[in-house]
Amino acid sequence: MIDLRSDTVTKPTEAMRQAMATAEVGDDVLGEDPTVNRLQDRMAFILGKEAGLFMPSGTMANQVAIKTHIQPGDEIIIDKNAHIFYYECAAAAVISGGQFNCLPGDKGILSAELIGPAIRPLDIHQPPTRLISLENSHNRGGGSIYTGENLAEIAQLAVEHGIKVHLDGARLFNGALAAQTTVKELASHTDSVCVAFSKGLGAPAGSVLCGSAEFIEKAIRFRKMLGGGMRQVGILAAACIYALDNNVQRLEVDHQNAKRLARGLAGIKGIKIDPQHVVTNIVLFDVASTPMDADTFAERLAPAGVLLIPFGPTTLRAVTHLDVTTADIDLALEIIQQFLKKA
Ligand SMILES: Cc1ncc(COP(=O)(O)O)c(C=O)c1O
Repeated sequence: MIDLRSDTVTKPTEAMRQAMATAEVGDDVLGEDPTVNRLQDRMAFILGKEAGLFMPSGTMANQVAIKTHIQPGDEIIIDKNAHIFYYECAAAAVISGGQFNCLPGDKGILSAELIGPAIRPLDIHQPPTRLISLENSHNRGGGSIYTGENLAEIAQLAVEHGIKVHLDGARLFNGALAAQTTVKELASHTDSVCVAFSKGLGAPAGSVLCGSAEFIEKAIRFRKMLGGGMRQVGILAAACIYALDNNVQRLEVDHQNAKRLARGLAGIKGIKIDPQHVVTNIVLFDVASTPMDADTFAERLAPAGVLLIPFGPTTLRAVTHLDVTTADIDLALEIIQQFLKKA
C-alpha cells in the first residue's frame, strides 16, 4: 500500500524506537525530564527564541499560543483555510474567546497588503485586533510557503499596530528548505512559533512551542489547564531529538518526490495540476474532468494500492514523507494511470 494521505502516517523506525527506549526521563510537570529540557532548549536555540515548551500535539501548541496571546473578545487575523481556523474545532473561540477575521490568502499565504486594511481601528464598537496567525508551510494551500521578506513586512505592520504574530510552523522545516532560508530567519519575524515532529520529521507525537521566556512561562500554565502536562515524556522527546538529528536534511527527498508526483500527474488525462505550485511535500490536484468526484476517486483507488485524501469536492491531496520512496511514487503514478484508463 502506498500511503500518500498524510506525512502523519509515518511510523517510528527501529533506531528511533531505540532512542526512545533508552531516553533519560523525569517528571516533566516538575520540569525534571532532562530529555524534554534538552529538546526545548535545542528548539529555542534553533528558532532563535528565549524558551521552548514541549506539547503533545500541534493543535495544543497552537491553542496554548492563542490563549497566551489574547483575551476573550479579541480578534485574530488568519487565512480562511488555515489549520487553526479550519481544523481545530473552533478551539480558539471555545478556549480563548477569540473571534477570527478570515482573509482570502493566496494559497493560504497572507501579505501585509491584505492584512493592513483588516486591522481594526480604535473603536468601542469593534473587537481589538490582537493577533495575526500565519501557517508555514500551508497545508490547505498545497504546501505553499512564506518568504522571509513577506514575513518581515507582516511583522513590521504588526509592530506598528502593537499586534502579536503567531506562526503555525507544523511544517516549518519544509517551508525553510523550500524558501532556501533557515527556520530561525523565518521565526525571527514572529512572537511565537510552533514546530511539529509528528509530520515529515517522523516522530510518533510532539510539537514544541517557542517564544520569549515570559510568554513560555505563561504558556506552561495553559498547557497544564488543557491537560497537556505529561510526566516521563522524555520517551517522546527522545524521538523528536532523533528526528532533528536524522530527518531534517532528508526533507529534500520528500520535496523532490512531490515534484516528481506532480509532474507525473500533470501528464495523466483527466487530472489537473500545475506542478509549479508544488514547492514542498504536499500535492493538490483536481479530478473534475474524470467521471468521479474526489471521494469516489479516493475510495475506488484504494483497493488498487494508493491511498489519497479527498480535500474538496473534486480536489485530492497527496503528501510525500519518509515512508515513501521515489520508486513508490513511480508505482503510484502507474497505478493511477491504469485506474483512470478503466474508469
Ligand atoms: C499546519 C498544521 N498545523 C497544525 C496541525 C495539528 O497538528 P496535530 O495533528 O499534531 O494536532 C496540523 C496537522 O495536520 C497541520 O497540518
